[in-house]
Amino acid sequence: MKLKTKDLLTLNELSKNELAEIIINGINLKNDLKKGICKPLLKNKTLAMIFQKPSTRTRVSFETGMFQLGGQALNLSADELQLRRGETIEDTSKTLSRYVDVIMARVYLHEEVEILAKNSSVPVINGLSDSFHPCQILGDLMTIKEKKKKLSGLKVAWVGDGNNVCNSMIYGCAKASIDISIATPKGYEPNQNVIKESKKFVQVELLNDPEATVKDADVVVTDTFVSIHHQTTDRTNDFLPRFQVNVNLMKKANADAIFMHCLPAKRGQEVTSEVIDGPQSVVWDEAENRLHAQKALLVALL
Ligand code: CP
Ligand code: NVA
Repeated sequence: MKLKTKDLLTLNELSKNELAEIIINGINLKNDLKKGICKPLLKNKTLAMIFQKPSTRTRVSFETGMFQLGGQALNLSADELQLRRGETIEDTSKTLSRYVDVIMARVYLHEEVEILAKNSSVPVINGLSDSFHPCQILGDLMTIKEKKKKLSGLKVAWVGDGNNVCNSMIYGCAKASIDISIATPKGYEPNQNVIKESKKFVQVELLNDPEATVKDADVVVTDTFVSIHHQTTDRTNDFLPRFQVNVNLMKKANADAIFMHCLPAKRGQEVTSEVIDGPQSVVWDEAENRLHAQKALLVALL
């Protein structure tokens, strides 16, 4: 499969079939690896990774993924590139395109990854911007599929900040035929356009009531109240105590509901230790699946 889109910036670029295929291929690549099979599908290919912000999972999963596929990854901190001295994103993009086969970038402003993609002759992957985190949701949907054996017809409940991960989760649910209910404090809702577009495919419910949101949910998801791009930390008071995923809230979801979090987590804030370290939590499989889903994505883009 070769994707219709050159770049992956939001997740909305993928058709339903393309998304389904990436998830299946991710599961297959994971099973292969467990059996010791590691095909050099990206032999001699190079991925450039630009980071304006810190990362553990994104950096390590992309770098390891390229290694496992027989290629290599270059870790480029934006601070160590000429970007820091004022070289434009346009010129950086045109230059990198002459050396590497694919670029992944973690940026502050979503427009920056759009400019990168527009000026690059090779595929550009958004490794998180202030508005979207598509790679996270590829791994998340793969995890849901593994745990629930299906995607279509499920209900996801998002509790907390309507942030970048939430926006991509809404797109992901729309493409995977999963209904989504979102509970945020007033003023912290996800992107309105994302909701509007996604409502064409699935039910997208926007509430300010976590209990109502998790009712009948198969998956309960949250993320930190303070993302990297948020300069202030006084947001927390707007979320606590109501928007914390704790055992009482989990009890209001389906009995077999799973708990997900993109990580890093702040225990005691958006989620209690009891939940994230408890039996319903699948966060470590979720973190692992970034590796497999992104390998499937890289193969599909290249
Ligand atoms: N979930 C995620 O993207 O983690 P990192 O910030 O560690 O890459
Ligand atoms: N919403 C978080 C996700 C981190 C992976 C952030 O942007 O910091």
